[in-house]
Amino acid sequence: MKHAKEYHGSSMDMVADEDLRSLLQETIVKQGITHVIETGTYLGLGSTTFVSESFPSDRPPEQFVTIEVNWKSWRRAWRNLRRFPSVRAIWGRTVAVDRALKFLENDGALRNPNEYPDILIDDTKDPLRFYQNELSGALGGRPRKYRPWQFILWLYDRKYSNAGDNLLEKYLKAFKATTPLIILDSAGGIGLLEFSIVREVMQDLPYIILLDDINHLKHFRSHEHIKKDRHFKILGSSERWLLARHAG
Ligand SMILES: C[S@@+](CC[C@H](N)C(=O)[O-])C[C@H]1O[C@@H](n2cnc3c(N)ncnc32)[C@H](O)[C@@H]1O
Repeated sequence: MKHAKEYHGSSMDMVADEDLRSLLQETIVKQGITHVIETGTYLGLGSTTFVSESFPSDRPPEQFVTIEVNWKSWRRAWRNLRRFPSVRAIWGRTVAVDRALKFLENDGALRNPNEYPDILIDDTKDPLRFYQNELSGALGGRPRKYRPWQFILWLYDRKYSNAGDNLLEKYLKAFKATTPLIILDSAGGIGLLEFSIVREVMQDLPYIILLDDINHLKHFRSHEHIKKDRHFKILGSSERWLLARHAG
């Protein structure tokens, strides 16, 4: 695998692609999307803002939850997203930590990155450690460091605002009857795990799925699956993203 920086710099934002924008606008109206679940908010200024702005101004989503594990990013996202009243930025983890750690340790692609020379990855030196760190809320795989006042605020937020683990499953279960729009854009190491959770919970129900980074460890296998599974119809794609509909 090759370092993602070689491909699109260190940018973490979903590319504001005009084709994707018009496809999303059309899909939201045609499919009557009212509920959105997103994994990986970062600062809220990328995909969350992009998708929110794709809703008609007179028909915003009824509920839009976006999940971020990194405390500092979540705090900033919460402020950045105040202009979208239906968006709820949630501080927590999309997956159960034990299941995710096991998944990382057993992932064949992470163990044998040389077998996938064209696929991107966020760290080429010790990717397992990098994604283990990211799972613990360390942005970019770096350990957390807080100033004393931040630590006090973190303790307060941890008590009153932390939503815990396994939130993707929780919100899929809550929204599953609404033909939700599901956006998977969290850590590179757990993209396939999140996609498996979507398939486990949604089963034969209809939904729309947006994957960012299909040329990356994050989603290259989910992309392959979607291409082969006749229940999915690809609505549009680029070399970076894919929007598909799962038929009910
Ligand atoms: C690629 S960035 C998201 C970019 C964002 N969607 C945008 O367009 O600006 C991935 C984000 O997912 C967060 N993340 C990683 N693992 C996570 C997990 N298990 N649960 C929730 N967030 C996670 C990271 O902290 C990081 O902010």
